[in-house]
Amino acid sequence: MELQDILYSQGFGTRRVCAGLVQQGWVQVYDGSAAEQPVPCTDSTSEWPLDGLRLRVQGVDWECHAKAYLLLHKPAGTECSQKPSTYPSVYSLLPVPLRQRPSKSAVQGVQAIGRLDQDTTGLLLMSDDGQFIHRMASPKKHVPKVYRVTTKHPVDAAQIAQLLAGVVLDDDPKPVRAAACELLEPHQIDLTLTEGKYHQVKRMLAAVGNRVEGLHRWRMGRYDLPADLAPGQWRWLTADDLQRLVAKD
Ligand code: URA
Repeated sequence: MELQDILYSQGFGTRRVCAGLVQQGWVQVYDGSAAEQPVPCTDSTSEWPLDGLRLRVQGVDWECHAKAYLLLHKPAGTECSQKPSTYPSVYSLLPVPLRQRPSKSAVQGVQAIGRLDQDTTGLLLMSDDGQFIHRMASPKKHVPKVYRVTTKHPVDAAQIAQLLAGVVLDDDPKPVRAAACELLEPHQIDLTLTEGKYHQVKRMLAAVGNRVEGLHRWRMGRYDLPADLAPGQWRWLTADDLQRLVAKD
């Protein structure tokens, strides 16, 4: 693919801006030569393989990916909306090119997959691959999500039994049930859900007479939020990570 098109696909601006970046000498390419030093490239139509290409654009290194599969450790006090009402958007935690990636068919740039409440922390996936977004977000696919829930009142055996048997929420007569519920401490459980209804964990705990005081999502599928990814940080997901995310137990 031409270097100017690669830059465009990665979110570095309009096609004209991207051509200009190259022609003005702002782009260097790690072409595998000369001891890991990037080499200048001013030919905006030079051809390169996109996936895995490493660039230095205006002094900043960039790894090229045809499709974006990202993990964000969502901190508290952020909204998953592109147009937040009260708190900063999770999108503001991504570098500018990831926020500016052009639309791919029906997907308008990088999207958060599902929503976490502003006060919920933990594992948030983001992507611009429509199929992957559907695969991870569709309730029909039953991807298990594990939430560490801190509660106001001690969780008793009857509450756990109710959560597993199913509780009725106010917007649907069909009961929703937890796929698993493990008591960790008197005020702490791991709750596994396979759907993602609005405020589902909070409403389920309220339905059994308790209250959520803290909520952290730490697992999806067989993929755990890495311990070395601090709140507010993001990273690219590897092929192995993607396998774990879609794996069925
Ligand atoms: N359930 C909730 O109540 N809130 C979240 O953020 C996620 C699941």
